[in-house]
Amino acid sequence: MIPSPIRLIQRPTPCHRLERLSAELGIDLWIKRDDLTGFAMGGNKGRKLEYLMAEAVQSRANVVVTCGASQSNFIRQLGAACSMLGMRCVAAVMDLPYAAVHGKPDFEGSHAGGNVLLDGILGVELVRFPDDDWEVLYAHAERIADDLEVAGSAVYRIPIGGSSPLGAYAFVEAASEIEGPFDWVVTASSSGSTQAGLAYAWHGTETRVVGVACDPEPEIMEDLVRLVTGLDTLTGGAKQMAERDLDLRLDWAGEAYGVPSPAGVAALARLARREGIFLDPIYSAKAFSGLLALAKRGEIGGRVLFWHTGGTPALFAE
Ligand SMILES: Cc1ncc(COP(=O)(O)O)c(C=O)c1O
Repeated sequence: MIPSPIRLIQRPTPCHRLERLSAELGIDLWIKRDDLTGFAMGGNKGRKLEYLMAEAVQSRANVVVTCGASQSNFIRQLGAACSMLGMRCVAAVMDLPYAAVHGKPDFEGSHAGGNVLLDGILGVELVRFPDDDWEVLYAHAERIADDLEVAGSAVYRIPIGGSSPLGAYAFVEAASEIEGPFDWVVTASSSGSTQAGLAYAWHGTETRVVGVACDPEPEIMEDLVRLVTGLDTLTGGAKQMAERDLDLRLDWAGEAYGVPSPAGVAALARLARREGIFLDPIYSAKAFSGLLALAKRGEIGGRVLFWHTGGTPALFAE
């Protein structure tokens, strides 16, 4: 069942044309500003939290447990929602979680400044662990949640990035803020619910949704399929989307999750220097580097919408 959302963000978020880059790229390029949600410094997680926190309240939870990277934008926005609702927010974090099959990247994640600073102001309880595989991080979060329950707390567990079908539903709803048809919508994809929701909304139309992966993990596709299938169940829909209906590009993920890519850093500077708009180095910059490359190759064109997913506080990570 879809609970009535607790409204957190200002909507619709702005959507406007990028004049200089449109001229440079020879496409009609627009940007959807979910970096400007007006909630806890913006970002795509505010939308998901409107539904997830409604479920948390319904379940009478007094503490929310999740996990992520230390610089998680999700944890920052979750912490703000918990503050508003008078709940504790506990998060298991690693500076740089990684996929053990690919090995640990030769890069230091950040545990200070940026989102960590904001989490401290919000009163988020970050429980830090040494860098390890994602599965180890999930297990830490589960143990924390179990311990809190044993101690008498009512716990609501939130999956990483808020990526459940309910979180994805927020982006099915978000698509209705877009006026006029677009040929292409391009967004960052990591835990998957942003892309899954948008792809579900536009499935069966002329608009094609491209997710640019921020982690070189092909398993994101499995998550996307699980999410769109879950959306059918949640909404009573019958889109029956499969892998062939989801366009996920892994080419611009860079070396690993949490590690900025050279193309992403260049894209971040280009958007800032042409349009005065900031991206974040871990997600939206990689996605925008994908958009620039796809436009250059002529693989996307016409009326193109870049869905900015926020994350700019990470620019101030130490
Ligand atoms: C700024 C930013 N962009 C994009 C994403 C990816 O969104 P999703 O997890 O819904 O795939 C995240 C999530 O971690 C994020 O923080």
